[in-house]
Amino acid sequence: PLATLDECLNLDDIEALATRKINRKAWGYYYSAGDDLISKTLNNTVYSKILMRPRIFVDCTRCDTSTTILGQKVNVPFFVSPAAMARLGNPAGERGIAQACETYGALQIISNNASQTPEQILEGCGPDQVFGWQLYVQNERAKSEEMIRRIHALPNIKFIVLTLDAPVPGKREHDERSKNVAANLGARSSIQSGSASTTTPAPTTGAPLRLEEQVEASGNLDGGVGKALFAGTAPDLTWRTTLPWLRKQTDLPIVLKGLQTHEDAYMASLHAPQVKGIILSNHGGRAMDTAPPSIHTLLEIRKYCPEVFSRLEVFVDGGIRRGTDVVKALCLGAKGVGLGRAPLFGLGAGGVEGVERTLEILKGEVETAMRLLGVEKVSELGQQHVNARAVERD
Ligand code: FNR
Repeated sequence: PLATLDECLNLDDIEALATRKINRKAWGYYYSAGDDLISKTLNNTVYSKILMRPRIFVDCTRCDTSTTILGQKVNVPFFVSPAAMARLGNPAGERGIAQACETYGALQIISNNASQTPEQILEGCGPDQVFGWQLYVQNERAKSEEMIRRIHALPNIKFIVLTLDAPVPGKREHDERSKNVAANLGARSSIQSGSASTTTPAPTTGAPLRLEEQVEASGNLDGGVGKALFAGTAPDLTWRTTLPWLRKQTDLPIVLKGLQTHEDAYMASLHAPQVKGIILSNHGGRAMDTAPPSIHTLLEIRKYCPEVFSRLEVFVDGGIRRGTDVVKALCLGAKGVGLGRAPLFGLGAGGVEGVERTLEILKGEVETAMRLLGVEKVSELGQQHVNARAVERD
């Protein structure tokens, strides 16, 4: 088995290494998805059905992976999607992911349920590093309003992502099953890899989110970590009420996450320019099982309401394993591509260096794919570079 980050040549290797290093509870929470993992499996396989159309006689001496996301300059066209509880896998936590993102000029979206406070995650980062912050609207709206006020004090955070695909968590059985073994394996793993949450001091500044304690103290892991984290999340969001409320709280650009149909993408586009972007996502298969992979939704939008692309920026996430996956999504109109589990597994495999290795591998693969396609810049990627007919037929 792989023992070092250098031996890891692709993202599956990193996941395999992390799986050996992190404790059972962390693995159960990260790996899990809804019901039978059908959406998760589709996410991981759908890109293999899209074929590349490489051109010859194109000078590919140079290759530039930089682009912009919501007007922010980034060095790579992939970003870190919001994911809760990074400290479950390694004490470096979300701050560790931020350090790796700084090295690679990658954008990171901080989860509402991060295991460190936004202030801690941003501590020491340079003025050019860019972030988004993801919101789960709380039943007690005042709590969300207070968080948004704190976000406004952090100039590196450029936009707010409102997640909408998980008004309730999906039924995640790997997560539920891992609850009993958590305590034992947590202790063992903290010695082996320094990764048990119980050994690390919890965030101390600002109010939120001593989530690990919250989760542990609730003593109610019957639904797994996921269910415990969702306690307090509002299930009553609507087009009519929630966007006006959020607009009142913030002038930051708003991005809606978790759209799974062209109808909702079109609805969102009617709210442009208040809504500046949408992330097509099925939450890594963790919410509604058998919901479509985001690339299906992207193709639907191309077919039924292509004007959406000119009204706002469209992003996708879910199942990104390879640089070719990233490039295919960009060819079909995505402005950027999100990574959920990959940075968490990178962190679990080797802390900050593990995330750096993850980003390094993916960046290298994106460059190779662009060069082999005959493309020098991200903006040159287009529909002419792929054949997506097999997915369009699905
Ligand atoms: C997530 N995701 C997520 N999304 C969100 O909006 N807020 C959150 O707090 C979380 N938390 C979270 C935890 C874990 C462990 C995972 C795996 C995922 C969903 C995430 O942003 C993203 O949509 C998917 O993970 C993308 O799929 P891949 O890249 O994991 O296949």
